[in-house]
Amino acid sequence: MERRGGWDFADLGMKQTQYLTHFFHHWTAKFIPQIPARAIERYARPGDVVLDPFMGCGTTLVEAARLGHDAWGTDINPLAVRIARAKVTPIDRAQLADYLAWLKAASDKPEAHLADTAALFEGSERWFRDDVARAVRAILDRARELEPETRNFVEVGLSDLLKGISNARMDRTMPQLPRTPSYVDKKHYHRVVDNRTRKINPFRRLLNQLRRMSAALEEFLRLARGRAEPILHDARDLASLGRTAGLAVTSPPYWSAQNYQRLHRLSFRVLGLEAPGTGEIGRRPRAYLGEMEQVIAQLAKVLSGHFVLVIGEAQDGIHEEVRDLCVARGMNLKDTFRRKLSNQAFFVKAVKNEFIYVFERRG
Ligand SMILES: C[S@@+](CC[C@H](N)C(=O)[O-])C[C@H]1O[C@@H](n2cnc3c(N)ncnc32)[C@H](O)[C@@H]1O
Repeated sequence: MERRGGWDFADLGMKQTQYLTHFFHHWTAKFIPQIPARAIERYARPGDVVLDPFMGCGTTLVEAARLGHDAWGTDINPLAVRIARAKVTPIDRAQLADYLAWLKAASDKPEAHLADTAALFEGSERWFRDDVARAVRAILDRARELEPETRNFVEVGLSDLLKGISNARMDRTMPQLPRTPSYVDKKHYHRVVDNRTRKINPFRRLLNQLRRMSAALEEFLRLARGRAEPILHDARDLASLGRTAGLAVTSPPYWSAQNYQRLHRLSFRVLGLEAPGTGEIGRRPRAYLGEMEQVIAQLAKVLSGHFVLVIGEAQDGIHEEVRDLCVARGMNLKDTFRRKLSNQAFFVKAVKNEFIYVFERRG
């Protein structure tokens, strides 16, 4: 077993893991792009279509397309799919330029561009200050005039900013309101934050975010030689899509998975997305292995080559049970790597190491 070697990316900083469109949106437990990139470089044959059944925010798809492979991926979470789409899909540049011009005018004179209403969703007045909510409303109303992919691009940019412009505590990952409008931010130098008076210009923040995103998308589209298709779909029913793949690379949800719906509750409410509900694997720990077995059985039907499974090391050995499920479904275990999870951008604190299992389909 290789303990460190080729899969240890401990020395990488944020810059090296957030290139191209990877920085568009935070997503808990997202891959550092070097992992799917290495898997694709090592195990994809020329012309292989790459699949990630738990694609999350689309890291594998971006890397596959960059490396010249067509790719498809599924996720049950509509926000994940929206983010992945924004990272890989061409937009209407002229429409975006007009939108940015409007945003620039609005960021210079916010009062003149606020919407008449502050209503974003039921109870939104607790989460957003009145002027911020009116700005968000104006941003959304204006985005409605855009063609679907450009609108999605703008909304994903906004989504990534929502928690930071809301009244939620800055020192919590899960959106949580402080007891009083003024509180001590324990994560950032114990400074006092006052939600009533702090400077928030949503127009300006979005303008900066979209400018960066737009340059990154342009570069991605210039480099990408493969086509990437993010699909909103339950991985337990993968085969019904009628697609195949020559390489699968994935990192499944954990048995005590992050509650993505709650983590992203502001985005869900503001964008009016439907919650993935009971299909989300990992929400019911007892059902975990059964649900993973369903996905692996489906994967075995659509896959013809290698399968690279990246899974956190569990004290109770669940990762090994998942590995064994793959073997039972006709996958030959070819290699096992164990890598330490260093303090990188999307480090999941409870998991210290992860395994990379490489299988090859038999027959
Ligand atoms: C560990 S994350 C994958 C992150 C991904 N590697 C990335 O770079 O963004 C696991 C993903 O599995 C998704 N998921 C959970 N249950 C699912 C299901 N039944 N079908 C498809 N996706 C599911 C979650 O929404 C989550 O995005």
